[in-house]
Amino acid sequence: MAFRARHLLGIEPLHPAEIATLLDLADTYVDLNRQPDKRADALAGLTQINMFFEASTRTQASFEIAGKRLGADVMNMTMQASSIKKGETLIDTALTLNAMHPDLLVVRHPQSGAVDLLAQKVNCAVLNAGDGRHEHPTQALLDALTIRRAKGRLNRLNIAICGDIAHSRVARSNILLLHKLENRVRLIGPPTLMPAQIGELGVEVYHDMREGLSGCDVVMMLRLQRERMDGGFIPSEREYYHRYGLDAEKLAYANPDAIVMHPGPMNRGVEIDGTLADDINRSVIQEQVEMGVAVRMAAMDLLARNMRVVPADA
Ligand code: NCD
Repeated sequence: MAFRARHLLGIEPLHPAEIATLLDLADTYVDLNRQPDKRADALAGLTQINMFFEASTRTQASFEIAGKRLGADVMNMTMQASSIKKGETLIDTALTLNAMHPDLLVVRHPQSGAVDLLAQKVNCAVLNAGDGRHEHPTQALLDALTIRRAKGRLNRLNIAICGDIAHSRVARSNILLLHKLENRVRLIGPPTLMPAQIGELGVEVYHDMREGLSGCDVVMMLRLQRERMDGGFIPSEREYYHRYGLDAEKLAYANPDAIVMHPGPMNRGVEIDGTLADDINRSVIQEQVEMGVAVRMAAMDLLARNMRVVPADA
C-alpha cells in the first residue's frame, strides 16, 4: 500500500499498511547504511531544513544524516540564534523559511500541537520530530522496526512501557502504533507519572514493576522528563530507582528472551541500571539508534515520492 500522507505529523492518522510500507523500505536502508558507500538519490535536488526548538542529539543528528545520505541539501537552523529570540513568532519564522522553497521541514517544538499548526501554514512536507507531550512519530516507527527485527514480528506481543508516561510523547506515539498492530501494551509507573486520560488509551496499568513485567516480550524504559514537571512527582531519585529502575533482578520477571529498549537520553542509575543498558544480549538501545537513521530515510523518501506525483488531470 502506498504512503498517502503529505506530512508525517503523528502515528494517529496512519493506516497499519502504511506503517508496514515504511518499515519495509526502512529495512532496505538499514542494508544501505551498512555498506561503505551509503549514498542514494531519493532526495536529490530537494532542500531539507531542520528546526529544533528543543535540545536533541539522536533525533537531529539522524535526520541530518538521513537527508544527506539521500542527496538532499540539509540546513540546520540554530533556533537559539534565530529571530525567534528577537520576538518573531513560530509562524512568522516558518513563513520566512517557506518563502525560500524548502521541500522538507523537520520540526521539534516544546508545545503540543505547534508542529500541526505550522504544517497548515507552509507548502512543503512537515515531519514532526517531537511536539511537547503529544507525538514523536519517527521514534515510534524506529522502535517498531527494532522490535520487528528482534522478535521477527510486530503483533501479539506483550510490551511494557515503564516510567514517566505522563510527560512522554514517545509513550503516546508508541501506544498508538502498537495498538494499531494488535499488541498488548502495559504501562508501569507511579500513579503520579500516569497520564490523566489513561482510561481512553486501552492499556493495562501497573504500579509494581515485578507484577507488570511478568510475561512481557519487550520492556521499554523512559527518562524522567524533569523539564516538563512542575513540582514533586517522585520522592527521590534513589527511591525511584529502587521501585521503578530496571535492573537484572526486575527484568528476570519478564520473558527470558525479553528485549530492553530506551529512546535516550538515558539516566543510568535513575530509570535503568548501566550494566543492563550495555548488555548486548538484552539491550537493543544501540540498534534503536541505528534504526533511527533508516526510518527517517524511509519517511522522507516516501513523502518525497508524493511530491513528485503528477496529478492525473495535469
Ligand atoms: C525523547 C524525546 O525527545 O522525546 N528522546 C528522543 O527523541 N530520542 C525522549 C526524552 O527526551 O526522554
